[in-house]
Amino acid sequence: MRRASTAWGTPAPRSLPDRPGKGRQHHHDVLRLPQPGPRIGAGPVSTVINEAVRDADVLPERIKHFPFPFSGDIYRYSANVEPSRKEVSTEAGAWGGRLLHIDEHYLAELKDRDEVLERDPSRLQVLPHMRPAVWDAICTLLPALAEEYPDTVSFTREGDLCRWRNSLQNLDVEFTVGDDSSLPMGPLRFLGSQIQDDLVFLDHRQDALWLDAGVVTFAADWSVGFDVGMKFLEVHHPVPRVKEEKIVSRAEQFLMRLQPGEQYRRTNWTLTIDRRLDTSTETYPNWAHDRMTIADDPALPDRLHLRVEIQHMIRLPHSGAVLFMIRSYLLPLRDIARVPVWRQNMGRVLAELPDDMAEYKGIIHYRKAASDWLLSA
Ligand code: HEM
Repeated sequence: MRRASTAWGTPAPRSLPDRPGKGRQHHHDVLRLPQPGPRIGAGPVSTVINEAVRDADVLPERIKHFPFPFSGDIYRYSANVEPSRKEVSTEAGAWGGRLLHIDEHYLAELKDRDEVLERDPSRLQVLPHMRPAVWDAICTLLPALAEEYPDTVSFTREGDLCRWRNSLQNLDVEFTVGDDSSLPMGPLRFLGSQIQDDLVFLDHRQDALWLDAGVVTFAADWSVGFDVGMKFLEVHHPVPRVKEEKIVSRAEQFLMRLQPGEQYRRTNWTLTIDRRLDTSTETYPNWAHDRMTIADDPALPDRLHLRVEIQHMIRLPHSGAVLFMIRSYLLPLRDIARVPVWRQNMGRVLAELPDDMAEYKGIIHYRKAASDWLLSA
């Protein structure tokens, strides 16, 4: 349960309702920022190449580019931050060579986002002082996408007048930087209609980071409407272990030192039942019950997905805001099992994960069934 007064002694900016579904225990194991030692985090690099898989070369693209997050058989929270755009080889292929990734789900996911926003406009939040940061993000991300996909999209700018073309959407649009009315759906919704990532904007003031804007339609069991206006440390209050282990306070220090234009990334993971990107707190009644029944469902290997977020952190050059981008990938256990090292790593991670972390991730009722299936597949 979340309380209105936080562990950091700062009153929350408004009353904080209870949220369903999250474990709230805190334990005291000691973990540190990345350093040499046993491989326990969502490590960026997989080292063992499974020749059998690679030689077969029959894996579909969704598996080849999947950012498999485990580099060993044990997972614990860590900052696991590294520079962005560095390609990571996996047993099945590679991921991460780009900041933005257009994949086979591009149109379907953007349609999904549009429908979520139509149903629930609270998934988009912009406190008034964050308008310049949104324009800063537009002028950073659209050129980046055009540079990474020159055959698909293009961005030109003369002064404040910009032209954006997107051949996947048959779109050719002109707008003026800083003029919200030049993009009829509004600048942040427009940006969210062009890239698959969810976007969160953090304002840097009073020696802290504040979540003051975002468009988040694919949250993994949290809510941007709930979190808007909170400090970075308050946002992480429900997460077990990270306060005691100083992971989040160090992460905030790291983010506050980011220089304009610098880009870093990390990964995070959970499990999701069915190919459902919208697992926001707001839709909890639609998806939470499946957690109680999936363990006994013979379709578990096809319904249960490993959900991996590639999270990018960028200091926007003009506004000084920190942009946090969350790109979510889903892969069913049946596909994970096609890569023998993944099958084994994930099966062991799920079996070993401490209960407080499994409770927080909402997987405690079925992680054993998932682990048993993976290890016996
Ligand atoms: C190096 C930077 C960061 C670290 C080390 C970090 C760490 C974590 C960890 C360990 C979790 C729990 C994840 C899980 O078990 O599934 C978490 C959750 C979360 N993080 Fe971060 N995070 C970082 C950056 C950010 C940023 C920039 C934001 C944007 C405000 C953010 C927002 C969240 C949210 C909203 C949750 C879910 C909290 C909830 O359950 O309500 N994180 N983070």
